Amino acid sequence: MANSGSRHSVHSPFVYTLVDKVFRNQEDNQAFQEIANLRRKILLKAQIIEITDFGSGANHKKYSHRFERVATIARNSSVTDKYGRLLFRLVEFFKPQIIIELGTSLGLSTLYMAMANPDSQVFTIEGCTTTSEQATANFNALNNSNIEQHIGRFDLVLPDVVAQAQKLDFAFIDGNHTYEATLENFKMLLSIANNDTVFVFDDIHWSAGMQKAWNEISDYEGVTVTIDIFRFGIVFLRKELSKQKFVIRF
Ligand SMILES: C[S@@+](CC[C@H](N)C(=O)[O-])C[C@H]1O[C@@H](n2cnc3c(N)ncnc32)[C@H](O)[C@@H]1O
Repeated sequence: MANSGSRHSVHSPFVYTLVDKVFRNQEDNQAFQEIANLRRKILLKAQIIEITDFGSGANHKKYSHRFERVATIARNSSVTDKYGRLLFRLVEFFKPQIIIELGTSLGLSTLYMAMANPDSQVFTIEGCTTTSEQATANFNALNNSNIEQHIGRFDLVLPDVVAQAQKLDFAFIDGNHTYEATLENFKMLLSIANNDTVFVFDDIHWSAGMQKAWNEISDYEGVTVTIDIFRFGIVFLRKELSKQKFVIRF
């Protein structure tokens, strides 16, 4: 049974602090302005690129090609400013050293995380080469040097990234929203996780498969606190916390 409600009804000092200092934090940051300006420029782009769409069938080796306006990708696939700021604040608060992102797309979510802690190293994986090239240009536009891009299907590339990173402090999982892939990627990332690792899953209620994956991850051995903010699901492994599921309005 999940605990839900406002900050004041949360009976966990850890989650209360998180809600107070991270979720409800309204402080501005120069990075937000820089990313917003970049997003505005992307939304004005007339450029059309040929993308490889892995859809939700990538694990079954299905993919298709189609032409898409870069502006349309930004509108449909990139993290919104509201959730981008939340990623920024989570990284600013927990100060993870090693961050792994599944699903770079144009790189906006990557930038929110990388700019929140310039001392971190962000490994980001994208299957579509042309989309990844757009992300490279966006990282260069904001002079970002703590991002390492990897191109390829998650199931093929993640084992190498895990071997290279050796440790994981923060993960943002935002691609291949199927039950099987979500659990597989979670288990692979768990192999290099530590007590303080934070996992953020996007679109946890997007489909029956994602809901099932979220339910299993919440009950997974070693997972203690989970926070469902409807769009994102946040997972903690901290042994000092008792197992509890929170649903919090964001
Ligand atoms: C929702 S978008 C990511 C958006 C980005 N995180 C942001 O908020 O700015 C998901 C991306 O994951 C990529 N993707 C989906 N399934 C994949 C797979 N199996 N392997 C590699 N990339 C995949 C897609 O090409 C797409 O660009």
